[in-house]
Amino acid sequence: MNYNNPNLIFNDIPSGKIGWSSPSNIALIKYWGKKDLQIPTNASLSFTLNNCQTETIIEFSPTYNDGCSIEFFLEGIPNKRFAEKTCLFFNRIASIFPFIKQLDFKIYSKNTFPHSAGIASSASGMSAIALILCDIENQYFNTFSNEEEFYKKASYIARLGSGSACRSIYGGLVSWGEINKGSNLYGSPVIDGVSDVFKNYHDSILIVDSEEKKVSSTVGHGLMNSNPFKNGRYNQASANISKLIDIIGKGDLNNFINIVESEALTLHAMMMTSLPYYLLMKPNTISIIERIWQFRNEKEIPVCFTLDAGPNIHLLYPHSYDDKVKIFIKNELLQFTSNNTVIHDRVGNGPQKLNL
Ligand code: DP6
Repeated sequence: MNYNNPNLIFNDIPSGKIGWSSPSNIALIKYWGKKDLQIPTNASLSFTLNNCQTETIIEFSPTYNDGCSIEFFLEGIPNKRFAEKTCLFFNRIASIFPFIKQLDFKIYSKNTFPHSAGIASSASGMSAIALILCDIENQYFNTFSNEEEFYKKASYIARLGSGSACRSIYGGLVSWGEINKGSNLYGSPVIDGVSDVFKNYHDSILIVDSEEKKVSSTVGHGLMNSNPFKNGRYNQASANISKLIDIIGKGDLNNFINIVESEALTLHAMMMTSLPYYLLMKPNTISIIERIWQFRNEKEIPVCFTLDAGPNIHLLYPHSYDDKVKIFIKNELLQFTSNNTVIHDRVGNGPQKLNL
């Protein structure tokens, strides 16, 4: 698949603005390890979230610059680091969207979750930008024959910004990689065979530590190349994703829990066994995990956890246990969080265009 298209050049360079809101996602089967240009070393699977969103508006106008012309405002404040990161991304995709070189960009981005919460925003942020670029193509070049083509390209572009971002293009359960006719180049929604219990699953994010990540994902992925356990991990991930898709189809909560928690702990085990090695959990992360296990055993309520590459806990549970789990969080888990911070989220429907 090659999206390079020298014809996407303006004759009359327009000015305009387009905005999209795009969600974060939480991986159940983790993407950890990549090669070449954002090609994952194993397939991954995630729930798209509903409330944790990045809203991005891009204003564009004819440029008089040769180089990359981006001003980036995060929550209204100019952000040089994000401008530079976006320039790198735009250079990477300049042969796909040659019109980028004809435009000046002002990017206004804000998150619906607190920036200080230490939640990765690259998936939501990069997917919103990818959607806007595809929308510029759609509006001014009219190249897409249907929505499916539009979203597939948006997912391909989002992947080039941040791997996990390609999964945020769709709602519900989304895979990325070579599983069920899927591709390493873009995410695919898992539409058929999702048991009802997983359609409105909850994810309450317990913020144990709101500091920025100790190790960037890109560095973390790179460490897998020399990890002595990498092949075992890649084989395990491939086996786990097939099993989990089957389990999700059957609505088998016990086996869902086993695989999801094992994936989270394996991700952290990979970081502990890399060189340099990292320990990304905090004592409070472990205290929360122990409380979750105790609560699950005593009350027989199917809650489980997963983790990103950091100390915060994503508590996953079916909608029918919402009240009971919220009481559990309040009474037993909040004490281990930073400033009693919990973000209640659930599976969502995917990105939306903003009415400007
Ligand atoms: C642990 O997508 O942030 O969250 O492609 O380098 O931008 P880059 O990495 P990124 O990695 C996410 C890693 C993870 C697992 C996952 O989301 O699958």
